[in-house]
Formats: sequence, structure tokens, C-alpha cells
Amino acid sequence: MAQTKADPLLVVRGITRRFGDRTILDQVDLDVAAGEAVGVVGPNGSGKSTLLRCIVGADEADGGEATLDGRVLDERRPDVRRDLAVVMDDIDFFPDLSVVEHLDLVARAHAQPDAEEVVNDVLDEVGLMEVSGQLPSTLSSGQRRRLALASAFVRPRTLLVLDEPEARLDVDGVRWLGEKLLSEKAAGRAVLLVSHDPGLVEQVCDRVVRLGGGDGADAG
Ligand SMILES: Nc1ncnc2c1ncn2[C@@H]1O[C@H](COP(=O)(O)OP(=O)(O)O)[C@@H](O)[C@H]1O
Ligand SMILES: [Mg+2]
Repeated sequence: MAQTKADPLLVVRGITRRFGDRTILDQVDLDVAAGEAVGVVGPNGSGKSTLLRCIVGADEADGGEATLDGRVLDERRPDVRRDLAVVMDDIDFFPDLSVVEHLDLVARAHAQPDAEEVVNDVLDEVGLMEVSGQLPSTLSSGQRRRLALASAFVRPRTLLVLDEPEARLDVDGVRWLGEKLLSEKAAGRAVLLVSHDPGLVEQVCDRVVRLGGGDGADAG
């Protein structure tokens, strides 16, 4: 099928990460184009989270590089942060800010135009409107997960990176997430998704990179 592919937005080349004498990631390559979603799958401990952390610059790889639109990806750089929204496992919330205050702060800190409107829309979408005045410590674990996702969706972004976003979501939540990720692609954003939910991967991802099995990554 002759098809001109868009230049990839995210380019990952040769990412290698060792802990002591264990090589967790061995020369991992992947590309994600605008409007495309790539899945990363593999068993527990296969290095999925480490790969995402190395890609966004939250962990330092022993070798390799990730670039977003030609710039080295490092979430500590403001010009990169503006284009990148990340949902990892270990998100913290300001303990003394309510749900809506937290989202409002995140949106404004990342120079989201129409922050108030975006926050309201996202609160409604993720089903947290009713608890928007509550502190994070009073939320259920599923609601906290929804807040973590909402924190990414109130930011401007061209690349969305998600580590097991379906974790702790109920059936409706996973269904919403699938539709939301499809609409991210339709809006021309790139999505990099680690997930243990085959249905979600099937629904959203154009390609899958498999980690584990001791022979590094295998795109296919
Ligand atoms: N900071 C670290 N120090 C030592 N080992 C680590 C560190 N981070 C991750 N690992 C190890 O790397 C492997 C891959 O971990 P991880 O990327 O979290 O896997 P996954 O997300 O696929 O379950 C695991 O064996 C884990 O114990
Ligand atoms: Mg993980």
C-alpha cells in the first residue's frame, strides 16, 4: 500500500537502561507520528515504565535519545513541557488543593488558553464534577486516577504519554478513556500508551511495541 507517512513527532532511538548488571532496555527504537497511537506491552518488570521515564526525561538512559519534533525530550525544559502531557503511576496531588483548584493550577501553569472552560469540560468528562470541591485525600482510588488523567487533559499537548491509564478505572471509565484517546488522535496528537488492557490497545493503538522475553523490543 503506497502511503506517504507523516514525519514522526516522537522519535526514540537506541534507548538502553541498565540497573547494576541487569540490562532492562536494550536499544529500543520507536516512532509515533501525529495522529497516531503506539502501544507498549509486556509482562510486569519488562521495562515499560522505565522506557516511558527515559523517553520523557524523568529517568536518564545509559544510551539513546528521544526527540519530540526535533528537540531532545526533557520534561524539565519549558519548551518541551508545553507540548508534552504525561500520566505516570506515581502522580502526586497538592494535598491542600481541591480537585478543581488542582486542575485550574495545572492548566494555568501550562498556559492553557481558556483554562476555566477547559477545566470545567474535563471535570465533566471524567465525572469528577460532584467531587470538584473535595481534597484529593478524600477521593476513591479510581477517582484519584481520574484526577491524574484530568491533569493531563487540561494541559496543552502534542504528545500524550500514559502508563497503565486504565488501572483502577471502572468499566465506564475505561470506555471513556478509549474514546478520549481516539479523539486525541483525531485532533492530530501523538499517543504513547503502556497498557495491560488488550481491548484498549486494540481499540486505540496503530502499532504495538513488545518488551520482555529477554531479546529487547520488537516492533510489530
Ligand atoms: N531505579 C531502579 N533501580 C533498580 N531497578 C529498577 C529501578 N527502576 C526499575 N527497576 C527494575 O527494572 C525492571 C523494569 O521495571 P519497570 O520499568 O517498572 O517494569 P514494568 O513497568 O514493565 O512493569 C524491574 O525489574 C525493576 O525492578
Ligand atoms: Mg510499569
